[in-house]
Formats: sequence, C-alpha cells, structure tokens
Amino acid sequence: MIPSVSALMGRDFLDVANLDAAELREVLDLAHTIKAGRWAERPLEGRHVAMLFQKPSHRTRVSFEVGIARLGGTTTTLTEHDVQLGVRETVGDAARVLDRYVDGIVARLRTHDDLIELAAAAEKPVINALTDRSHPCQILADLMTLEERCGPLGKQRIVYVGDGNNIAASLIEASALLEFPLMVIAPPGYHPKQAVIDRARTLNVGRFMVTLSTDVADVAKATAIYTDIWASMGQENEREVRRKAFAEYQVNQALMDAAPGAVFMHCLPAHRGEEVTDEVIDGRQSIVFEQAGNRLYAQMALMAQLFGAEK
Ligand code: CP
Ligand code: NVA
Repeated sequence: MIPSVSALMGRDFLDVANLDAAELREVLDLAHTIKAGRWAERPLEGRHVAMLFQKPSHRTRVSFEVGIARLGGTTTTLTEHDVQLGVRETVGDAARVLDRYVDGIVARLRTHDDLIELAAAAEKPVINALTDRSHPCQILADLMTLEERCGPLGKQRIVYVGDGNNIAASLIEASALLEFPLMVIAPPGYHPKQAVIDRARTLNVGRFMVTLSTDVADVAKATAIYTDIWASMGQENEREVRRKAFAEYQVNQALMDAAPGAVFMHCLPAHRGEEVTDEVIDGRQSIVFEQAGNRLYAQMALMAQLFGAEK
C-alpha cells in the first residue's frame, strides 16, 4: 500500500538519485505488488498526463500510456512534430503552457539540460523518459526484473558490457543507492564520464560498489550481464567508428559461457549481430522481454506516487 499522501507526491523524477534508498525501495515494492494483482487503485482518476517525445520510442511510450489508463488517468502524447521544443517555442514556455493543462509531464528529450529546464519551469511533476544522460525508468524495471529472477540485489553481481551511456549512468546510481556490486566493462574512452561516477559516489561514500574494467574476461562471476546498443539515439553518425571500437565487446555465447548461470539483460531495442548475438538474446538466460514487460508495473508504481491525487 502507498501511504494516503506519498512523500514523493509532486516531485520530479529526472534521475534514479532523485529518490533516496528507502523511496526507491518503496517504488519497487509497489511495482511488485501491482504486478501480483494485489493493488488495483486508480489514483490518476480525473488526471491528465502529457507525454513529450523528441526521440522515437516503443516501450516507453506504450507502457506509459497503458499504465496511465490503468491508473484511471488520460494522456496526450506529443511527438517531435507537435510541440517542436526549442524551434516553435522555448522549453520554458512550453513547460509553462503544459502546466496549465495537465497534472504531470513525461518527457523524452534530446538533452538532459533541456529536461532540467523543463522541470524547473513546470510546477507539475516531470518524469524523465530518457535523455542523453540517463534512463531512470528503464532501471526501475530492470531492478524489479533482477529481484524477480535472481533474488535480493545485494547478493548479485551485475556486469554491464558496452557503452558507458545513459543506461550505464542510471545503473551506477541504482548500485550506489541499493548497494549492489556493479562492474562496467567498456573499451578505453567509452566508460561513463568521471562526473557520473563522482556524483554517484556521493550517494554512498561508505559502500560504493562500482568498478570499471576494459577486459571482457572480468565478466567471470557475473550473475547478470547487461548490454545496450553501441551508438545511442543521436549518435548515429558515430555508428561505424563505434562498431570497430566495440568489436571485442560483443555479448556472444563465448562471453556468456565465461559467467555460467548469468542472466542476459538488454533495455531494447537491440542491434542483433552487433552488441549481442541472436543466440544470446533468444537464449535461455535472456530476460530482455521480462525487463520490457516490467516497465509497465515500475512506471505505474512511480506515477501512483508522483502524480496520484491526494486523498
Ligand atoms: N527501452 C526503451 O526505452 O525502449 P524505447 O526506446 O522503445 O522506449
Ligand atoms: N542508450 C539507448 C537506450 C535506448 C532505450 C539510447 O539512448 O538510444
């Protein structure tokens, strides 16, 4: 059960670190409860949510739209061609207008700085649906999936192999908050930025369990191996350069065999044949579709707490 007035009510969720460890735990617990069918409240009854997309989306858009409907709310989805943030009007002006119509905003923007500007100008709560810097909603679903499939996070050893991108950054924050070991294996020059590591370390100075490596052999003892595309949305022109830089970092059967029993994770969409082979993503250890499915429950739990009506 969520308390009648959640401590998260009205807050923004731009990064995993906008929650403290107890609040993150509460969101995950509610997500599990919703999935188990033991919570069927409709805290978004009479509420309307705007969704802004500057980049393409499948999972995020559909899971938010379905989740909002299941919570009793309604939604308007605006794509790149509608609002044209920064082209037809400034991010701030768009936020101040939306604020007068809706009860919450879900935004997938090209830059994290624009998201911060949007959230600063909007009084209504804003949820990050992915930026160049982070993808916190994906990580909520991933944590939920890991708990379902592998048990308590503290007993796991997550190894992320690939680009030190938005997914890696949000995983790092989650590791700092919930205290699970996380290793990021990337080619030289493609690790998460030092500022990302430094900021996460401030969340948990005493038990910071993030390590970096350039050696794929370090996947040994992993309980989960996670990867993502090598060139994220907005980096399409780097695809060839990155394909070469990451060639040794493909998650294939040989790499999975180096960590017997490890599950395979990917936020999707995948570039099959690049960062992961068909054999692995379609294999027995793959939990990628569970991750995608859990976006629904994780975001319902988050929205119930941030956007829900006070009772
Ligand atoms: N994983 C994820 O966010 O997928 P979409 O880009 O399709 O929303
Ligand atoms: N890193 C990817 C994640 C897509 C869900 C991107 O930003 O394109």
